[in-house]
Amino acid sequence: MKKFLLLALTLVLALSCNRNPKILVLYYSQGGKTETVAREIQQRLNADIATIEPVEAYPADFQATVARGSKEMEEGFLPDLMPLDVKISDYDVIFLGYPIWFGTYARPIATLLANESFKGKKVVPFCTFGSGGLETSEADIRAKLTSAKVLHGYGVRSARIDAAPAEIDQFLKAGGFIPGETVKLQDFPALHPVSEEEAAIFEKAVGDYPMIRAKATKAASRPVPEGTEYVFTARDLLSAATGGDLKSEMKIYVLATDGQDPVFTRVSR
Ligand SMILES: Cc1cc2nc3c(=O)[nH]c(=O)nc-3n(C[C@H](O)[C@H](O)[C@H](O)COP(=O)(O)O)c2cc1C
Repeated sequence: MKKFLLLALTLVLALSCNRNPKILVLYYSQGGKTETVAREIQQRLNADIATIEPVEAYPADFQATVARGSKEMEEGFLPDLMPLDVKISDYDVIFLGYPIWFGTYARPIATLLANESFKGKKVVPFCTFGSGGLETSEADIRAKLTSAKVLHGYGVRSARIDAAPAEIDQFLKAGGFIPGETVKLQDFPALHPVSEEEAAIFEKAVGDYPMIRAKATKAASRPVPEGTEYVFTARDLLSAATGGDLKSEMKIYVLATDGQDPVFTRVSR
């Protein structure tokens, strides 16, 4: 009997030491893009998944959501959420997903971060966006969740959602969440004044996008598995035209793949 108890105890200890981290994919998605990314991550990790739902859903109409969201941002208003279907305390790692609204995480996430404890958890942000990237929202989450470990996350433009599965595969491998090799990318070389050919690539990639009016000034490029990735420094003409900071510069990343028009992947301000 004693021997049996000892064996059982050893087994329990061994299991608790070696157990895989419990992973939750928790997300808010108004229009379904972030949900696509959330499901992709969940399937690859075989993780639990849950949604964040505001009590009063945001309107389907884009302009109406912009109006409500910007008012809430200005006032620091936290929209009420429905109770979560899961307990965050049951998990070790939380993949936290959201659309970018006004440069950072959508309002429902502000409520979540204020109401729930993430103490001692690993938090992995992921997001979808129209043009801007993940960076600001990730920094904002890190600033809010000082007792959690906020890892570097994943973001994708909603217009490039088809590229997400392959990118998520690399992202999860790089983070050690799934096994497998990752492609090691070269660093960008130093920026140089933009050439005519590069300016044409830049124009093709951002020319039609209504939220960006910019002139490329410098460029650099590096090979990537899909083709060539460019980084451009660009002057923000929209900010200049609306009386903003005339010197306002942004970085725009562009992917050029053989036989396809170049597309921009994110904007960093
Ligand atoms: C209220 C609102 C504000 C937005 N603000 C930004 C923004 O600042 N930057 C950006 O790149 N995209 C912005 N977007 C676009 C969304 O981030 C993008 O469409 C996202 O993929 C939507 O995700 P969802 O389908 O999961 O809701 C905004 C969208 C809405 C509705």
